[in-house]
Amino acid sequence: MTIPRLIGSLLLFATAGVGCGEAAADAKAPAGAAAEPEVRPLGRIVPVPASVTPEGEPYTLTAATRIGIDETSGASRAIGRYLAGLLGPATGFPLPVVDDSAAGRGIHLRLAPDETGLGDEGYRLVSAPEGLTLTAREPAGLFRGVQTVRQQLPSAIERKSVQQGPWKIAGGTVTDTPRYAYRGAMLDVARHFFTVDEVKRYIDQLALYKVNTLHLHLSDDQGWRIAVDSRPLLTTHGGSTEVGGGPGGFYTKAQYREIVEYAASRYQEVIPEIDMPGHTNAALASYAELTCDGVAPPLYTGTKVGFSSLCVPKPATYDFVDDVVREIAALTPGRYLHIGGDEAHSTSHDDYVTFMNKVQPIVAKYGKTVVGWHQLTGATPAKGALVQYWGLDRTPAEEKERVAAAARNGTGLILSPADRTYLDMKYTKDTRLGLAWAGYVEVRRSYDWNPATYLPGAPADAIRGVESPLWTETLATTGDLDVMAFPRLPGIAELGWSPASTHDWDAYKVRLAEQAPRFDALGITWYRSPEVPWPAE
Ligand code: ACM
Repeated sequence: MTIPRLIGSLLLFATAGVGCGEAAADAKAPAGAAAEPEVRPLGRIVPVPASVTPEGEPYTLTAATRIGIDETSGASRAIGRYLAGLLGPATGFPLPVVDDSAAGRGIHLRLAPDETGLGDEGYRLVSAPEGLTLTAREPAGLFRGVQTVRQQLPSAIERKSVQQGPWKIAGGTVTDTPRYAYRGAMLDVARHFFTVDEVKRYIDQLALYKVNTLHLHLSDDQGWRIAVDSRPLLTTHGGSTEVGGGPGGFYTKAQYREIVEYAASRYQEVIPEIDMPGHTNAALASYAELTCDGVAPPLYTGTKVGFSSLCVPKPATYDFVDDVVREIAALTPGRYLHIGGDEAHSTSHDDYVTFMNKVQPIVAKYGKTVVGWHQLTGATPAKGALVQYWGLDRTPAEEKERVAAAARNGTGLILSPADRTYLDMKYTKDTRLGLAWAGYVEVRRSYDWNPATYLPGAPADAIRGVESPLWTETLATTGDLDVMAFPRLPGIAELGWSPASTHDWDAYKVRLAEQAPRFDALGITWYRSPEVPWPAE
C-alpha cells in the first residue's frame, strides 16, 4: 500500500468511526464499480460455492436472451420472472420467460427430480457461449442458483436504470449445495417497529446471500407487533410505542401473511418469536390478569432487560399463551414457533421450568416445533426442539456444557454466539450505533470461527446452522439496519452455506471487498471496515 493510500484509508476509517460508514458509502459508488473486471472469475461470490470448474468462454446476456422454464412448473415460472425482474432494469433487455424448448441460447432453469445429489437447495450452473443452464432438484435450488448468476454479473446489474454492459458470466461449471440446512437472520421489530416494506427490503438483502430463514422477534417489553384477534389490546395498547417513545406499530394478520408470502417467494421460512415468560412488559401492560398482583404496569420505552414476567402460577397465563400460539401458528406455514425464554431474570428457576413444561406442549398442540433461546436447556427442551445458543467466549463453561449436553441428548442447535453473530454489536468503540455488552465485533471476528467445533462437547451433527440476530434498541431506520448488517451478514451467511474446507479469511476478505460496489448499487449503507481491502474510492 502506498503512503497516500494508507493515509487515505486512515482518514476514511476516521470518517467511518464518526459517521459509521454512511458518509463513505454515499461517496463512492462509481469508483468501486469501475474497479470491477468485465468478467468476474467464476465462483468469486459470497457465499463461495462448494465446487467451481472454470472452463471456456463466457456466456453473454443480450437483448435477445430468453429465460426458459419447464412450463408445467409454476415455481419455475415465478423464479424465471423474478430473474427477469432482477436483470431487466439494468440491462434494459425484455428477458421473456418462455418454454425451455424456445429459449435457445438463453438461460435455462431446469428442475431435475433425479438429481438427488443437489438436495433441497443445491444447484448446478453451466455457463458457456451457447447458453446458461441452472439445474436443481427443487425450486429452492433454482432460486439459490439465481443468486449466483446475479453475483457473477457486474455489480451494475443491481441498479434500477439502464447501465452500460457487457453482461458476461464466466464460462464453466458451479456445483453448489449448502453446508447447513438452517441459515437464519433475526430481525427485532419489537424494540423499534419496521414496516412491511422495510422487512421485505431485509428479506431481499438476505436472499442475495442465500439465507433461508427469517426469525421475527415479534414481542418484547417495548412492544407487541402481531395482531391476535382474541387479545386485541396486545396491539392497540401493547403495540403503541417503542424504544424512545415513538409510535411503534404492529402487523395486521394480512400484513404478517404478506411478509410470510414474500419470504416464501425468496425461499425463506419465517419463524415467529413470542418471547416468554420474560420480555413481556407490553403484554402485561395490555392485560393486567397476566401479572401476579393483577396490576398492569405502564408501557415501557427504555432498554433494560429482565424486569418482566408472565405470572407462572395463574391459569390465565396459559389461556393467554394458548390464544397467542393458536392464532400465530395458524398464520404461519413454517415448521417452527420460537418461544424465547431468554433473560427471565424475574421468574424463579422453578417457575421457569413449570412454565416451559406447560408451554411447550401448547406449541406442539398447534402443530409447531419449539425453538427457544438456549436458557431453555435450564428446563427440559421438548423432543425435537431447537435451541438457539447466544453465549459468548466468556460464557461460563457449565452453561456451555448444559447446552452441549442437550445437544448430545438430541436437541438441535442454532448457533448465534453474541460476540460473533450479533449484528447489533458495535464494530469498534467508534461505531455510532449498536451496543457493546458482548464486546466489539469487527468483520473478521464475525466470520472467523467454525460452527462445527464452536461449542465444546456438542456433536457436529447437532448443529443445524447459524443465525445472525439484529436487535434494534439503537436502530430505527433501514439505514441503521444496513450499516450494522453490512458487511457482517454476508460472512455469517457464508459460514452457513459454504463448505468448511473453503473457510479462509484472506480469501474471504477479497471476495467481500468485491461486494462493495454491489452494496452501493443496491443502495445499502455499509461500514467500511479497515480489515477489508475495499476498492479505492
Ligand atoms: C438475547 O440476546 N437476549 C437472546
